[in-house]
Amino acid sequence: MIEKVHVALGERAYDVCIGAGLIGAASAEIAPLLRRPKLWIVTETNVAGLHLNAFQDGLRQSGIASEALILPPGEATKSWPFLTQTVEWLLAEKVERRDIVVALGGGVIGDLVGFAAAILRRGVRFVQVPTSLLAQVDSSVGGKTGINTAHGKNLVGAFHQPSLVLADIDVLATLAPRDFLAGYGEVVKYGLLGDAAFFDWLERHGPALAAGDAPLRAEAVRRSVQMKADIVVRDETEQGDRALLNLGHTFGHALEAATGYSDRLLHGEGVAIGCALAFALSARLGICPQEEPSRVRAHLAEMKMMRDLSDISGDLPNTDGLLSLMAQDKKVLDGQLRFILARGIGQAFVSADVPVDAVRGILSEALGQR
Ligand code: GLY
Repeated sequence: MIEKVHVALGERAYDVCIGAGLIGAASAEIAPLLRRPKLWIVTETNVAGLHLNAFQDGLRQSGIASEALILPPGEATKSWPFLTQTVEWLLAEKVERRDIVVALGGGVIGDLVGFAAAILRRGVRFVQVPTSLLAQVDSSVGGKTGINTAHGKNLVGAFHQPSLVLADIDVLATLAPRDFLAGYGEVVKYGLLGDAAFFDWLERHGPALAAGDAPLRAEAVRRSVQMKADIVVRDETEQGDRALLNLGHTFGHALEAATGYSDRLLHGEGVAIGCALAFALSARLGICPQEEPSRVRAHLAEMKMMRDLSDISGDLPNTDGLLSLMAQDKKVLDGQLRFILARGIGQAFVSADVPVDAVRGILSEALGQR
């Protein structure tokens, strides 16, 4: 069964299709968008090995020809050289404005290809086929595209909404458990930020979902995508509510920077630890009940996920070092940080006046437990 979440953005509206077997059956969803029976796919080596043949075979059986560009895997691909390579390839392939480009891969490929599509001939349409849990529940939806530069992550990019997103639940079975759980960090984030009933549901079903239950996985992706779609429709370009999606990210980004964006800490792991710290901070500020941070950490523990700074291997900077990494991520104004806090599970809000001393206290306590 295919579930559809509609992202109601007027003339930029699109569907996110969620279901098993979508990669092999993509043509049924993509064909109505095509003005000629040909597609250009950009992917990376690992994903190509697992899914490209099935994708192209399914297209071929429906009379849709396709060409593929296969890039190296990894974050380094989200950069100027590979943007150039992608755009030049699409031009050499004579892709026209009415054509469709497909991003087949995780967040790196989705962000890079979405940006290439945004700037190619001043904007061509593209389809996201996300192959990681993180990309299915977060980066493939909402139109944020871009690359990293020597100055930092995601500093060059554009809002460019896809024309369709195909989230094939079967691909999640090919993920390493650690990658799946890192993506699950973003799923938990949705419950924590705006849907306490979803968090309850995750507490009940999380372990079965991690063990491979496909209908539960589909439901978790659907609810996450629905919440993201609702927020993006309210605030497409992040003037307000969309910032809620950054729950856990201020702490998380600092930890990612502190660990050199290496596999010591995956993005979703940083988000999970960051959510635990954001709840600890909210409790310390007297904004949320004292027992909520423990409940957050208990669920992460149940899921065998990282939740404390002591779960990160190797050295970390001291409190001031982490604080200055956070200040780079979110501007400090007169000793105050802009932050996503929570009044309780499912009740996040943007706060512009978090005292730096409270953050310092949380960090030094967390570092002290290492
Ligand atoms: N990943 C956060 C956003 O799309 O706004």
